[in-house]
Amino acid sequence: MVTSRLSVSIAGLQLENPTMLASGILGYSAETLGSIAAGGAGADITKSIGLKPRVGYANPTVVQANCGLINAMGLPNPGIDEFVEEIHEAKRLLSVPLIVSVYGFSAEEYEKIVKKAVEAGADAVELNVSCPHVKETGSEIGQNPKVLSEVVRKVRCTAKKPVFVKLSPNVTSICEVAEAAVEAGADALTAINTVKAMAIDAETMMPVLGNKVGGLSGPAIKPIALRCIYEIYERVKVPIIGCGGVTSWQDAVEYFLAGASAVQVGTAIATEGPTVFRTITRGTDVYLKTKGFASVREIVGLSHRR
Ligand SMILES: Cc1cc2nc3c(=O)[nH]c(=O)nc-3n(C[C@H](O)[C@H](O)[C@H](O)COP(=O)(O)O)c2cc1C
Repeated sequence: MVTSRLSVSIAGLQLENPTMLASGILGYSAETLGSIAAGGAGADITKSIGLKPRVGYANPTVVQANCGLINAMGLPNPGIDEFVEEIHEAKRLLSVPLIVSVYGFSAEEYEKIVKKAVEAGADAVELNVSCPHVKETGSEIGQNPKVLSEVVRKVRCTAKKPVFVKLSPNVTSICEVAEAAVEAGADALTAINTVKAMAIDAETMMPVLGNKVGGLSGPAIKPIALRCIYEIYERVKVPIIGCGGVTSWQDAVEYFLAGASAVQVGTAIATEGPTVFRTITRGTDVYLKTKGFASVREIVGLSHRR
């Protein structure tokens, strides 16, 4: 049984517990989003949706690495006009907030997609400005504070719902990018997207992924994400949503202590199953009770005290 110790508010969005489905992992159909909520997630984030349908890259698109996965899906998606139906259906099914992840090739595109997603019922949007493997969107926007500001400012003016900005770790200074996003109006930051990576097969002597380069996720990137959250927390005031390798309640607790107000879980669904959310929230609840905290909010950023 989940208690009120776990409830959080992220930029006005009320969550019964501080876990969310990370974008792109099972996030297409209303049914799969429903099964993740049934597994105990406090909110669902959809796969990133663009203005037009996209097929994505040729296989292989995912390869197992030592401590995680490397993926280069190429942002396959049906396009926002078709996806609107899925948003309607998900809103009918879900009792948890629905956050629609959005990517675009220009500020105008982001604005158009966000408008349609919010009109269809999205409770918040997450701007994917950090995909490491599709040219002219993703990282190419999120690595440039000036371009990123333009995108966030445009979306913030139009969106009537909270705007989360998902940051890339593939930058020299994640704090500089985080500050640009917040100054432009981001209501919360998600840290981090995948870390640029690749795999080569010694037998064929060739890169494994169809796109050659992809993004690393899972336990391998947890220490990187933790460091990013810790640094960002010292520089901005908006809530941070931690993402990258969260697999257990201990991981989640470390993220809260670093400064995250909630965590997203992706790759761990493949290794632990959809009930990983319940395992994380139950473990966190017991930890808080044992340590004498009345709310998860009390431990956010606690590792920064001197
Ligand atoms: C197969 C796969 C597809 C993904 N697709 C998206 C996506 O569409 N949009 C996005 O913002 N992130 C996407 N991601 C990144 C995840 O949302 C998350 O940031 C990353 O995997 C780190 O979290 P994890 O270690 O818990 O998986 C994808 C990750 C994987 C493994």
